[in-house]
Amino acid sequence: MSKKYLITTFGCQMNEHDSEKLAGMLENMGYSEGETLETSDIIVLNTCSVRENADLSFFGKLGYLKNLKKNHPDLTISVCGCMMQQPHIVETVKKKYPFVDIVFGTHNLHEFPQMLIESLSNRELSVHVWNEEGDIVEDLPVKRKLETKAFITIMYGCNNFCTYCIVPFTRGRERSRKPEDIIREITELAQNGTKEIMLLGQNVNSYGKTLENRMDFADLLYQINEIKYLERIRFMTSHPKDLSEKLIKAFGACEKVCNHIHLPVQSGSNRILKLMNRQYTKEHYLQLIEKLRMVDKNIAISTDIIVGFPGETEEDFAETLDLVKKVRYDSAFTFLYSPRKGTPAEKYEDIIDEDIKHKRFNQLLKTLNDITQEKNLLYEGEMVDVLIEGKSKTDETKLSGRTTTNKLVNFKSNSKEGKIVPVRITKARTFSLEGEAIEN
Ligand code: SAH
Ligand code: SF4
Ligand code: F3S
Repeated sequence: MSKKYLITTFGCQMNEHDSEKLAGMLENMGYSEGETLETSDIIVLNTCSVRENADLSFFGKLGYLKNLKKNHPDLTISVCGCMMQQPHIVETVKKKYPFVDIVFGTHNLHEFPQMLIESLSNRELSVHVWNEEGDIVEDLPVKRKLETKAFITIMYGCNNFCTYCIVPFTRGRERSRKPEDIIREITELAQNGTKEIMLLGQNVNSYGKTLENRMDFADLLYQINEIKYLERIRFMTSHPKDLSEKLIKAFGACEKVCNHIHLPVQSGSNRILKLMNRQYTKEHYLQLIEKLRMVDKNIAISTDIIVGFPGETEEDFAETLDLVKKVRYDSAFTFLYSPRKGTPAEKYEDIIDEDIKHKRFNQLLKTLNDITQEKNLLYEGEMVDVLIEGKSKTDETKLSGRTTTNKLVNFKSNSKEGKIVPVRITKARTFSLEGEAIEN
């Protein structure tokens, strides 16, 4: 029987995709995926440091593994990802969790097989964290969680240094993959049945700046749009400051690009946007939304918003509510500001009281949810095309999938994962739609 591995992933899709690569490398070495922590021989925790609760859940999990390792001394525990790029975290792991076998970072994922082989013969905690990014490594094996909907990293790192954000410190400087490598990967996937791809990057809108033969994200989209058998193209994340006219035009012109954009705004107050170093104003953002709706009047728009950034006054918060009402988002991720070690905002004064933060957060959530519900109601009675992703999480007898506008639809059907089917929407909920498949 082959040895088992289990990977627990925290954080964003970039991390999810890194875990797919780790799984690919482990399977190439002859391991197979395990079902529980208790029955696995290798456990990998792929960490995120974007907010404090991500840190806390990692240390909670590590605490549990301490006992597990006592009973299974042969168990290999690896910890990797964004948290490991922070020296104070590595120090804590060494001091308080010395039973960990391998520590590595975001820049040297490809070395994992070698680290594992060494660790199996020398059972001591070993740390392999690169402080700087190396060259992009192509052709790593990937074991994808979903075949119909595949993640494709198009660029690594971030140069924006939003003052609250740890990502530029954990993922290094921006660098883009060569277009030919991206096109080759997607073409192969599409030939093997992948219908939808999600292009990943911390800011896909600045794709191409590091390439020898300069090109931009719009040029890349036009090329991907030509790939045979591919049906849908999504991407995340877009930074508003780099959303050019050319790119907006490309969204309209490429029919495979989905009618949805995730455009994080963070705040509606120009004063706070400046303190966050976001490099756009509320007015500029609203203009972008208008332009996007001109090329596609039904485009769904989602966002990220931070509540309680240092110095946020009632007036600043009112600007955020006003922006939300003007844009009328289809959905949004809302976050309570969390100070991150080493970022400029960590030193900002005028910390917002926890009670006030929560009060604003709840008020924002209510405003957002009411709008989402109203927008979803417009779908009742409408026909939509749904790409089936699998069984519904809430009802085993149903399937679920997404519209091009990224709405989750649950419905009964005999069709299969990977098919795009017409569905009539019968009921709108706040976070999903119910429907009936129109079968031939
Ligand atoms: N590169 C992406 C997303 C990065 S992290 C972008 O620029 O949009 C995802 C989201 O986490 C951010 O959009 C932001 O809303 C939130 N976030 C990041 N750092 C945070 C912090 N210190 N406190 C609270 N939320 C944070
Ligand atoms: Fe963080 Fe800003 Fe870069 Fe996004 S664009 S990863 S929020 S620094
Ligand atoms: Fe977290 Fe790193 Fe992603 S900090 S959000 S896993 S890039």
